[in-house]
Amino acid sequence: MKILFATSECDPYAKVGGLGDVIPSLAAALEKMGHDVRIVLPKYGSINYVSQCETVGGPMIVNMGYGTEFVQLLQTKYRGLTIYFIEFNRYFARHRVYGEFGHGYHDNWERFAFFCRAVIDMCPFLNWAPDVIHANDWPTGIIPAFLNLHIKPSILNNTKSVFTIHNMAHHGYAPKELLQFAGLYSHYWHPFAMEACGSVNVMKGALQFANKITTVSKTYAEEIKTAEHGYGLDDVLRYRAKDLIGICNGVDGDVWNPKIDKFLPENFSTKSLKGKNTCKQKLQQELGLSNNLNIPIFGVVSRFFHQKGLDILCNILPNVLKNMNVQCAILGSGDQHLEWRLKEIMSSFSGQIAVWIGFNERLAHLIEAGSDFFIMPSRYEPCGLNQMYSMIYGTLPIVRATGGLTDTVDNYNESTGTGTGFVFNDLTDLALYNVIGWACATYYDRRKDFEKLRQSAMKKDFSWSKSAREYERIYFATVN
Ligand code: ADP
Ligand code: GLC
Repeated sequence: MKILFATSECDPYAKVGGLGDVIPSLAAALEKMGHDVRIVLPKYGSINYVSQCETVGGPMIVNMGYGTEFVQLLQTKYRGLTIYFIEFNRYFARHRVYGEFGHGYHDNWERFAFFCRAVIDMCPFLNWAPDVIHANDWPTGIIPAFLNLHIKPSILNNTKSVFTIHNMAHHGYAPKELLQFAGLYSHYWHPFAMEACGSVNVMKGALQFANKITTVSKTYAEEIKTAEHGYGLDDVLRYRAKDLIGICNGVDGDVWNPKIDKFLPENFSTKSLKGKNTCKQKLQQELGLSNNLNIPIFGVVSRFFHQKGLDILCNILPNVLKNMNVQCAILGSGDQHLEWRLKEIMSSFSGQIAVWIGFNERLAHLIEAGSDFFIMPSRYEPCGLNQMYSMIYGTLPIVRATGGLTDTVDNYNESTGTGTGFVFNDLTDLALYNVIGWACATYYDRRKDFEKLRQSAMKKDFSWSKSAREYERIYFATVN
């Protein structure tokens, strides 16, 4: 099949969170299965790959509702995949993908509506008719609506749409002008189309018009059909229930693999964890933690947002550090209040906790490899990748039972000594404190179980092959 992935993130060109990891690795898995898979994303100012890119043809026309614009289409190859970039400086020559200093760009709805239309117009420009355009999250959410139009490039007459929800919390609200701006009919201004509470809701449009909807874990597919996790669109999802399926994300074994990880001072595998100790030593040295291999390190790598529940971790961290013989390595950025709180805790417990504010790919790999435990107290988690990376790296995840965390982590059972991590239910200070205490006690007092859990975690198969087959089934279902 011919599959075009439309996305706002794609590692190594643009990554803010897990979407950036998922797109190239899923696309590569599908390509290996024999499909013609291509990816298109905006050419952000931070992408410096232009020299390795070739320009495709002359300027390309984008047919907006208000008139035409010209963009440049660029192309490169990555892991055998064709990657297209839409170059249009007015919207995309900025350093960040979505915004700066904790605020989204004010014109995000225009930027991404423009990108969506460019994806549509790219197909006749290339004279290439994908069987499926696979759109991801609200920035590409207008694509299903465009494909639903009667008037569209004829080359797309048989093209179907698949829309994946990576995060139900972000809908892409826009003023009514969006419809005119993008060249969509005004009858899309309707509660059964894209209107919601007096605004255009881009996610709603995607959920109404996509031929198939997926989300990134089975549990999250159920959760988002409820009022608690549906963010006001649960009724639409219940209506579309037969076209909604949860497919768990996989792990890219070329990038996240302790046997070959190029970011680590020494590689390791289930056969020997010597390299993991070297990583722990390096992590302690590099972050200024006291040098002691016998103290467990609890790692965190995360966007600092409400979703991730790190405010709850901040509430209990001082007591954890006071009462338990543990260390903490935290990497992330986002909510400035949280950044400030964590730095304050660091100043009171120096040598025991290190907080690195910012985005640092290498350090993320080192924390996964050098820690003993990894904390994810998420309020909700569509899938989550870090808990899977942790397990593969022999770092036991401590997760709240929600979304993909439920589906991927097996809770430690003390009576059988089985499991791959520690799971807790209520997102309260006490529950999080207790589960960290439980992990800590397992490390010190039930060493045999700890090692057994670590081995089971490292042996889990999170490769993309099974999930990529499920996506393939969805694609076939849309065209048949
Ligand atoms: P989400 O997409 O909700 O942020 P995921 O667990 O799916 O959560 O994916 C997060 C991805 O982003 C992982 O690859 C993680 O390592 C990476 N990441 C998050 N914050 C940082 C950071 N500050 N530095 C480096 N990588 C980060
Ligand atoms: C979102 C979700 C995360 C998921 C990622 C990739 O950012 O928050 O849980 O793993 O998308 O699908």
